[in-house]
Amino acid sequence: MKERIIQIIFDPSNPMNLTTQDLLDIDKAHSLPTFRRFPVAFDRASGAKVWDLNGKEYIDLLAGIAVHNVGHCHPKVVAAIAEQSSQLMHISNFFVNRPQIALTQKLITLSKLQYVFLSNSGAEAVEGAMKVARKYASKNGRGGTIITMKNAFHGRTMSTVAATGKKAMMVGFDPIPSGYKHVPFNDFEALESAIDQDVAGIMLEPVQGEGGINVADKTYLEKVRALCDKENIVLILDEIQCGMGRTGRMFAHQHFDIQPDVMPLAKALGGGFPIGAVLASERVGSAIDPGDHGTTFGGNPLAAATALATIEVLEEEALPQKAAKTGAWLKTRLSERLDKHPLVREIRGLGLMIGIELTIEAKPLVLKMLERGIIANATAVNTIRIVPPLNIGKEELMKALDVLESVLEETK
Ligand SMILES: Cc1ncc(COP(=O)(O)O)c(C=O)c1O
Repeated sequence: MKERIIQIIFDPSNPMNLTTQDLLDIDKAHSLPTFRRFPVAFDRASGAKVWDLNGKEYIDLLAGIAVHNVGHCHPKVVAAIAEQSSQLMHISNFFVNRPQIALTQKLITLSKLQYVFLSNSGAEAVEGAMKVARKYASKNGRGGTIITMKNAFHGRTMSTVAATGKKAMMVGFDPIPSGYKHVPFNDFEALESAIDQDVAGIMLEPVQGEGGINVADKTYLEKVRALCDKENIVLILDEIQCGMGRTGRMFAHQHFDIQPDVMPLAKALGGGFPIGAVLASERVGSAIDPGDHGTTFGGNPLAAATALATIEVLEEEALPQKAAKTGAWLKTRLSERLDKHPLVREIRGLGLMIGIELTIEAKPLVLKMLERGIIANATAVNTIRIVPPLNIGKEELMKALDVLESVLEETK
């Protein structure tokens, strides 16, 4: 193996000619062994379709994990990158720039919040959100504990791992930062009884993504909002996965008629380009003082122009509305065909964020689907997650559904 790797790496031929197996071998030898890779390498994509190195076509139900809400390589997003990259890619955050301020204005208009801090990723946005909550709490005589939910996911940095609270993600990484309490999702009594003077905020995903596509109850969220108001606690709604039109509204919390105090965004915000954002209300965000937080790359002109173009596509093509319609249509088709299947326990979700919970482990089925040209994902062990581009066609979804049904039939 070692000799083969050396031979591949020092092969003077064009490295872009490496085969899938070459890539997998080099990856295995030299990438930090953190990802369990599938035996496929992708080369190009458009809309909801992706092609591998051998030219095989796939339908993408995963969209880079809920990233390509506007579809892969949307021409408007591609043009924004080309244009901005030849004009001004990066400038320090000591200076303002037009794309950044235009994006800030857009996010404020959409969210009805007051402040924006632009970051590079989701975990970094969550870190920023928790800092805002803690700073507000410290100015109001409260401690810094953040309450989060069981089956949540907030990222892979040390603090976001602590916030996520999943044992398997923490083993070997002690000391894990303290200051987090975890309560069952959708259980108001458990949440209420966890509140004390040490609590700065409550953080939850209106629709849990990695946890298996679990939708919050409306009455639960209304009570959580009222509790935060009563106790002067910060409500952080993590919309990194469920935001940007995914559930049929621009932000998932808009289904529930509540406002967050702080909202981290990322994933689909940049249309495939890395960017995150922390949005905050005037009351909570004004607790932050100059020098409290910072970033080198966050919201640089290239990332900001790309995000702005992405949001414009979401609006111009009415993609949240499309997600609502296509999602409802897909859920009906899934129910018609799979509700009575012995391996299917539940079909749930909102808009185009759908989970099919099975009675068995989902990953082997996802692998079989991949072999047949459908990219899906297994989450929370036994749930197939469907988060395609919001402009995916019904024909593509029907093809994917045929494959899913046949794979389920073979597994029965
Ligand atoms: C709800 C939620 N929060 C935070 C994150 C972390 O985002 P990132 O992977 O960009 O750090 C994710 C990623 O899956 C997520 O789904």
